[in-house]
Amino acid sequence: MSHTPAMIIASTTKVPGRLLFSEGLVHYLLRPFKPGILLDPFSGAGAALFAASALGWYTKGIELLSVGIYATQARLAANRVNMPIFKQTVANLLQINFAEYHGQTYSLKHIAITKGAFPEEEEKQLIGYIAYCKQMVNDTDIQTLLLFAAFCTLEDISYTRKDGQYLRWDMRSGRSLGNIPFNKGPILTFQEAITRKLKQIISDLEGNCVQQSLFEDTDPPRTLLTSPEMYQGSCLDVLPRIAQSSIDVVLTSPPYANRYDYTRTYALELVYLGCNDEQVKQLRQELLSCTVENKSKRDRIEEYYKFLGREVDFDIINTTFQEQRALQEVLSILDTYLAQKQLNNPGIASLVRNYFYEMCFVVYELARILKPGGTVIMVNDNVQYAGEEVPVDLILSDFAQSFGLTTKHIWTLNRGKGNSSQQMGNHGRTELRKCVYVWEKDNRMAITRDQLLIEAHQINYQLRSTFFYRKLKEYKVLTFPSIVANITPLAELYNWDQRADWGISEDAFTYISKHEDLKLIQVFCHPKLLREYPVLLAYYRNIAALSQKSVSYLIGVNVAKYETDQDNKTSLNDTQISLLVRLFNEHMSLIIDSSIQSFTEQELQGLLLTSTGAQIDGAWRNAIGEEAEKVVQRLLVKEAVKLGLLSAFIPRNGTNMEPFTPEYFETQLGNIGSYRGIMLNNQTSILFSSEPDISLIGRNGTTSGVIEVKGGTDHAGALERYGAAKKSFEDTLRSAPQAKTILVASCITPEALQRIKEDGTIFKYFNLTQIMKEKQKYSEFVECVFMLLDENHKVCE
Ligand SMILES: C[S@@+](CC[C@H](N)C(=O)[O-])C[C@H]1O[C@@H](n2cnc3c(N)ncnc32)[C@H](O)[C@@H]1O
Repeated sequence: MSHTPAMIIASTTKVPGRLLFSEGLVHYLLRPFKPGILLDPFSGAGAALFAASALGWYTKGIELLSVGIYATQARLAANRVNMPIFKQTVANLLQINFAEYHGQTYSLKHIAITKGAFPEEEEKQLIGYIAYCKQMVNDTDIQTLLLFAAFCTLEDISYTRKDGQYLRWDMRSGRSLGNIPFNKGPILTFQEAITRKLKQIISDLEGNCVQQSLFEDTDPPRTLLTSPEMYQGSCLDVLPRIAQSSIDVVLTSPPYANRYDYTRTYALELVYLGCNDEQVKQLRQELLSCTVENKSKRDRIEEYYKFLGREVDFDIINTTFQEQRALQEVLSILDTYLAQKQLNNPGIASLVRNYFYEMCFVVYELARILKPGGTVIMVNDNVQYAGEEVPVDLILSDFAQSFGLTTKHIWTLNRGKGNSSQQMGNHGRTELRKCVYVWEKDNRMAITRDQLLIEAHQINYQLRSTFFYRKLKEYKVLTFPSIVANITPLAELYNWDQRADWGISEDAFTYISKHEDLKLIQVFCHPKLLREYPVLLAYYRNIAALSQKSVSYLIGVNVAKYETDQDNKTSLNDTQISLLVRLFNEHMSLIIDSSIQSFTEQELQGLLLTSTGAQIDGAWRNAIGEEAEKVVQRLLVKEAVKLGLLSAFIPRNGTNMEPFTPEYFETQLGNIGSYRGIMLNNQTSILFSSEPDISLIGRNGTTSGVIEVKGGTDHAGALERYGAAKKSFEDTLRSAPQAKTILVASCITPEALQRIKEDGTIFKYFNLTQIMKEKQKYSEFVECVFMLLDENHKVCE
């Protein structure tokens, strides 16, 4: 079998991955595909990329560790190098006493965990070699290859051996040893090691390498057709920026959830590449979490998705992670073991949690960037902690499924050498199945659970924005400061002698009394003023940063009742007033006292808006369902205006109707909840109620159609919402069998959709997001509704 230079470097060096994809495995796995664009988001030394490039794939790799990037660059150099000159350079080089070139310029800047790793004389030789290559070898590819050869000898000439979680030190090093003295076997001199390595590279490049193939029946490799495109960085940062539907195949082997610490294992190589202590520690945290030292990346990921304007995706991924039952079971078992001190390292529970949290983001992004019909091939290990198997293959495949991928295969590979369970057994962890998973993206772009949820979230956020704006108006928050300002000229009519009884601290009072811009009544609540202007109740409560709930909790006064009583039909009594005044002023005094004499008018307005925002957010959470109904009601009312059909609004309270007048229209639309419906000038009407949410009433007073609107966005509730709509439709059909039933929903899962299609009681289904976003869907919906109201209607298809 012939080999391209790039592949040979992969086979002759152990750098950097513990799982180097064998060329045979890559060719075998890619056999079913026509070459296209291939991505490896954990590309290590680039084995998958080079093997795929040789088959004609255009390849992209992401790797965070400079060790992997360096090895990839060396392979590229090997691919270009002029062999005769390289061989001649090596022949000259091997005659040289490198110690003569030794100097401070290229000395290694050791970090704590590598100090004393090399015998002094060998380190001197190594530094001399580096100096010689950098000063005397001008051909960049040759220089790269020579330096890479030295990079590959680091372990051979050191007192250390890579041991998964750390560097294991030979007893000859004189460094503190474990219980059992360790002897790594022969430690080569630099001269021996570099000679061997350079000869091996030359031999490989000349095609004398016999690589062991995992799968013998693979196609022979061809020469590298394109060079891999590399991104150095964390795939958690790079993947979200890759274009949607742009990759044909992802072939990768992510880190395993097995405590393997790349930064400790590759500490010598990292130092060789110039990393200092701080950078190594930072890398450890940036790598996909697989050690007990990794801290949660949740906040940083959330911030990043916000920065990218992809909060919706973040929510979807977060929810999928939280709803993965097998994973949550494993996590809760590990948490229990942790509490019972049964884990031999307390960080294991968070390791597993962090690992899957991050992988959930990786899998989501892979599903997103894959072209329809594209495939992910992932090699990974299952692990076991404290006797509990973590079925990594099943959990990750389930994530994939949630994101619209289908699991085609989960193959189990024979375990390779070098990561045996004895090695790790001491640490309470054994490795189990090594698997290859194959996930496929649907070619038909069918509506997936994922898409539906994205849509549902989109609509949610759209509704949320308008909801916030309308509530801000409804609460009249922005008018409060001017109401207070209007009263200010009469400020002397309010006496503050009893301020101590009203909860005002003396310091805060003095500070505000002397304030250039702030007046006492702007800041402190006076009982007389609250009597005269009860509308300001919400103002004082909000600037004191108190929610309606907290007031009710702290002093038992239900302020919501009084704040919504626009006409002041009920008044607060003396006791309530004195409790409220005291509460508001105490909190305000606290704020001012804590500001250390720096409280400003702007900050006062800030508090008012912050608290109002929190209140609106609370109201929003309660109102998601209701709001979706109102959106549809408003949409129909607006359409009625467009069609010249709107005649009057029917108020809920009272018998008078409000004729349609364009100047009041916006206000009426804003208060849609206070209307029972609208009358149309074709003598039909649209009525709003609950069960059904909207009724379409014909000229003769019978129901020609009903609409149920379901705004909920959680998956789990999709079937329940469908069930509720069905029940309402059945009730209608019992008394009005001629009525047509329309379901409008934000989130319908494939199961619910299937049932809707088969359900005779549901005449038509619309997705609320589509109605809002797609002109055509909007038209279909309104046409359907208004046709049902037209006596001579052709029923919508
Ligand atoms: C199992 S190894 C893959 C080895 C690779 N298949 C090869 O043949 O060389 C996993 C790789 O993922 C890299 N890695 C870990 N966290 C990463 C991250 N957040 N972004 C990108 N690469 C990461 C590690 O440095 C390591 O090289």
